[in-house]
Amino acid sequence: MTKLLLDGDPGHDDAVAILVAAQRLELLAVTTVFGNAPVEATTRNALAILELAGLEVPVAAGAARSLLGEPPPAAGAAHGGSGLDGVALPEPRRAPLGAHAVELLIETARAHREELVVALTGPQTNMALALRLEPRLPRWLRAVAIMGGSAGPGNVRPMACRNVVADPEAAYIVFGCGAPIFWLGFETSRTVLLREGDLARLRAGGRVARTVAALLDFYRQRYRRIYGAEGAPIHDALALLPWLRPDAVRLEPVALEVALAPGPTRGMTVVDRRGIRPDAGLPAEQMPKPANVQMAAAIDRDAAVETILEALLAYP
Ligand code: RIB
Ligand code: CA
Repeated sequence: MTKLLLDGDPGHDDAVAILVAAQRLELLAVTTVFGNAPVEATTRNALAILELAGLEVPVAAGAARSLLGEPPPAAGAAHGGSGLDGVALPEPRRAPLGAHAVELLIETARAHREELVVALTGPQTNMALALRLEPRLPRWLRAVAIMGGSAGPGNVRPMACRNVVADPEAAYIVFGCGAPIFWLGFETSRTVLLREGDLARLRAGGRVARTVAALLDFYRQRYRRIYGAEGAPIHDALALLPWLRPDAVRLEPVALEVALAPGPTRGMTVVDRRGIRPDAGLPAEQMPKPANVQMAAAIDRDAAVETILEALLAYP
């Protein structure tokens, strides 16, 4: 079974990713970061979601700010003030580990060399710090799955997504680290929404599924208000597809760079999909750079949704 560490900012869709990972993969640890809410809140949310499902997965809290210490994009718009509005989950009984997220990430990779997949579903600050602290990390990891950035429309900026805008320097480090990377952009993840029929199935499920349905109802209302869209996003859970349902995602190797310059493009993920042949013989500066990620170019919505619903409905 695939060994996974999820680093994220729960967050409604991070919460779905955690539950699906714990059900279908070997979720070894959860590490948290600022993003949808302050790191204290995302850590509490992670513990509360794990407790809801009766899961004793270790949780370690991580970065409260970006590498440069810039304030993150204003949170709350999609996830509410707590980062997980919609259901008042009981205060978790468990506390996070005393270790920092970066330590837990490095130690888990060391203990499961060449077996661990790290899923990044929030700002990539913890992973960037881990890469600087342990330069062997890219060789130790089986893969990195990233939800964040966009090859098209964004959310917090016209063509940039929250997780990268919150810490562009961290994303620049991670996308360039050399580990095998599966990358899911917002332009693709935003097309896979849970519809009323899907939520009705969850409402007919066990306590965990019913609670997730209530949480996603909140998220859906926010998406309707912000985008006029009809459905609940599950961005972060889709980042696990290559290990849950590989036939549901079409991969395309691309060169991806993070724009750092101040201004409207800062935090953009610039993706080269020109399709220029390697032997095109253009001037060097016009030729594509080597592909550094496997991009989710398309997702089979029905297959992806069925996989995620089945995992959530498997809980009591
Ligand atoms: O833009 C979508 C991403 O930002 C998701 O990870 C969501 O949880 C928020 O963190
Ligand atoms: Ca997230």
